[in-house]
Amino acid sequence: MAVETFEHSRRNGALADRDRQRALAALEAGAVLLFPSLAFDLQPGEARFLSPATADGEAKNVSYDPLNDALSGTACRGGDRADLARMLQRFASSAEQLLTGVTPSYSPHLERARTSYRPIAVEGRPMPPISDDTLLHVDAFPSRPTAGKRILRVFANVNPSGAPRVWKLGEPFEDLAARFVPRLRRPLPGRAWLLERLGTTLGRRTAYDHYMLSLHDAAKLDAAYQRNAPSASHAFPAGATWMVFSDMALHAALAGQYALEQTFHLPVTAMRTPAQSPLRVLERRLGRVLV
Ligand code: SIN
Ligand code: FE
Repeated sequence: MAVETFEHSRRNGALADRDRQRALAALEAGAVLLFPSLAFDLQPGEARFLSPATADGEAKNVSYDPLNDALSGTACRGGDRADLARMLQRFASSAEQLLTGVTPSYSPHLERARTSYRPIAVEGRPMPPISDDTLLHVDAFPSRPTAGKRILRVFANVNPSGAPRVWKLGEPFEDLAARFVPRLRRPLPGRAWLLERLGTTLGRRTAYDHYMLSLHDAAKLDAAYQRNAPSASHAFPAGATWMVFSDMALHAALAGQYALEQTFHLPVTAMRTPAQSPLRVLERRLGRVLV
């Protein structure tokens, strides 16, 4: 059940009640919800952004931060830059609208975080292992602690030549935790305070964030795990939209170019089954409160 498919083709339409139940159960269990015929349509002028030259050649992605209305990672200037920001904002709104129809119980609790645009081909972009998203990992970001909140991401493949975006999906989060948590170090006393003081983290890195980051790193740095862990490839077609709790689903991007992505944060208490959250899984395993 790594990928659950829905024949839903209207971004602003509600799913039928039965499909909504299926969506919520699958999502919270760590599956990807795939909408193969739910395209995010670019506006005519936006086709000019379908080029690697849109990126600045340094950052991994073009990124828009709604909190301070800042666009980064792009070489575009002037009117191009404003148009690109508008494209990302439009995607953000459409992702929010989609969630209203798919997971309405989340809607009042969703916090809109960054929007990204990924114009560089996944293949042939050498990265140090820790930043290499072609390796299986759960999402956790060194500078952005979530303090237990979920990371829910909506992706759209906008590739104009029809190339799919190919992901690998791994074992259930419980299995990942069982495998790696016994090897992880405890957070160092005082370190989270210092990181926040130095501005390295945006807010306090909680024990939960420490363990999530450690899991992210441990999985990526374990070559044997990367080689031998249970996994399967899935192709997300051009013109498709998909969503996933990326802090829970072990994933890796293997191939593809031109995708949009919107991140949301969701308090664990807004889930139908909070006990399935990484926060609760880790707390049960470690026998202590993590936030
Ligand atoms: C990731 O979240 O690890 C990368 C996903 C993608 O770019 O398709
Ligand atoms: Fe990721």
